[in-house]
Amino acid sequence: MKFIFLSGSFHSNSRSLAILKNVECFFGEHETETLKLDNLPFYSEDLNIDKPVIVREFLLKISTADGVLICSPEYNHSIPAVLKNAIDWASRPAFNSILKDMPVSIITQANSPTGGARAQAHFKLVLDSTLSKIHICHEMMITQVSEIFDKEMNISNAKTLERLDRHVTDFIEFTKRAQP
Ligand SMILES: Cc1cc2nc3c(=O)[nH]c(=O)nc-3n(C[C@H](O)[C@H](O)[C@H](O)COP(=O)(O)O)c2cc1C
Repeated sequence: MKFIFLSGSFHSNSRSLAILKNVECFFGEHETETLKLDNLPFYSEDLNIDKPVIVREFLLKISTADGVLICSPEYNHSIPAVLKNAIDWASRPAFNSILKDMPVSIITQANSPTGGARAQAHFKLVLDSTLSKIHICHEMMITQVSEIFDKEMNISNAKTLERLDRHVTDFIEFTKRAQP
């Protein structure tokens, strides 16, 4: 199976990108790819008529995926705009888009004790609107995130790695069950 990874941030020290990199190994033989979202234009009805190449490429990759894994920070109690914009692009035509019936799993992280819980809830609300198959699981929120990495941004916290392994394993099974 093929899994697309979507991050909520793209700066050079992005913890979200680092977490996605760290969980690749848990996907075993399955193909994974992290898409770049910070060069997508803002969604516009005008651009949607004749979509820019970069948007077409993004949509094609999502459409060929068996599942999507999101890892994101919380921005002002909600979803970072870069990722919300990408979901908006992928959400058309409404209720019949490439996200319809797509298995999607969510990881949020923060330095705060809430671990991005509000963003996690907002993702679920948004993915309800796209009729995606939201991974039903122990919610995967990482608190005090800056403490889980070593200097190379490898996750050195054993408990977090164990939780991520369990989360990914469960998501792969969830995605298998969702196959037509
Ligand atoms: C614009 C902005 C808004 C933020 N709002 C929140 C917030 O509402 N709740 C929270 O827990 N952290 C908030 N943070 C902190 C980030 O979620 C936190 O630093 C996160 O680990 C960054 O992830 P990243 O390294 O993937 O960018 C905010 C950070 C930024 C830049």
